[in-house]
Amino acid sequence: MWFTSDNASGAAPEVMAAVTAANAGYARSYGADAFMDRARDQIREIFEAPEAAVYLVATGTVANALALSLYCPPWGAVFCHQHAHITEDECGAPEFYMHGAKLVLVHGAHGRMDPAALEAAIVKAKGSGVHGVQPGAVSITNVTEAGTVHSVAGVAALAAVARAHGLPVHLDGARFANALVATGATAAEMTWKAGVDVVSFGGTKNGCMGVEAVVIFDPAKVWEFELRRKRGGHLFSKHRFLSAQMVGYLEDGLWLRLAAHANAMGARLARGLAQMPDVTMVHPVEANILFPEWATGTHARLEAAGAAYYPFPAPMGRERARLVASWSTTEADVDWFLAALRG
Ligand SMILES: Cc1ncc(COP(=O)(O)O)c(C=O)c1O
Repeated sequence: MWFTSDNASGAAPEVMAAVTAANAGYARSYGADAFMDRARDQIREIFEAPEAAVYLVATGTVANALALSLYCPPWGAVFCHQHAHITEDECGAPEFYMHGAKLVLVHGAHGRMDPAALEAAIVKAKGSGVHGVQPGAVSITNVTEAGTVHSVAGVAALAAVARAHGLPVHLDGARFANALVATGATAAEMTWKAGVDVVSFGGTKNGCMGVEAVVIFDPAKVWEFELRRKRGGHLFSKHRFLSAQMVGYLEDGLWLRLAAHANAMGARLARGLAQMPDVTMVHPVEANILFPEWATGTHARLEAAGAAYYPFPAPMGRERARLVASWSTTEADVDWFLAALRG
């Protein structure tokens, strides 16, 4: 039973069908394919942003790194949560693509930056004069690494701090669809209407083979992004296969249905875990990622039963786990896991 990550899941049949259909005949290369025209139109419609620039890449890491490199100079600072993916899990790619800019870590409970802490970090950086990195951008993650979700008001509160200091805002939306279905917000409300300038719009974790979009609301940045993507080695020549995945993913609202299912399976797991007296939750469950804690010895028992997830140690004779439900998790998978946990 696989709860390691939503990227341990396969690709949705509709996405595979779109890729197979795109395989017929010839298509223009490097993003000039007709599927890309369709994907761009779909994303502009979804974001209610007819002027938005849309580019596809194959990993969330490069989507984040290229997006940030557009907005932060080498002597700049990107303010992000202390456990943000860009700081803990991208091997320095953002710093590399920004040519040495620094990530400044901001604390906050349950994966969300505290707006007051963000304000203090920006003010401190501003006061460092020529000796310190200069405030460059703010990066927010939704769904967060703690599995929690920023409401529109939460994004807007952080973006307001950034804006008050003239800083642009990036949103890491590797699980953007899960955040939208959790809040009921529209893509526009969660991004540009709340003060976001550039979005990494995830596809891979939620049913694609490997595609993420970078959505840029400022047309002035477009040519620079194209050059940075090519120079960084991330302009695919047989681009139609990226485009086709995105088209299949977005057609008829599939992306939202898949995310709603993943979140529902997360909620089913959470309900089952809540009935077990010895299990506590480290973070509130708001989407498809759960962090339960249980008695020592449970990992070994679950592993022997065939459960796959990320185990972590925890203080005071406890063990911690990260469980992720995906678009392909079934109710039977969840019930099996809960039964194995009950022993
Ligand atoms: C929040 C977040 N951002 C970005 C990424 C990066 O995705 P990739 O592994 O495709 O580079 C991930 C993947 O785990 C993620 O969880």
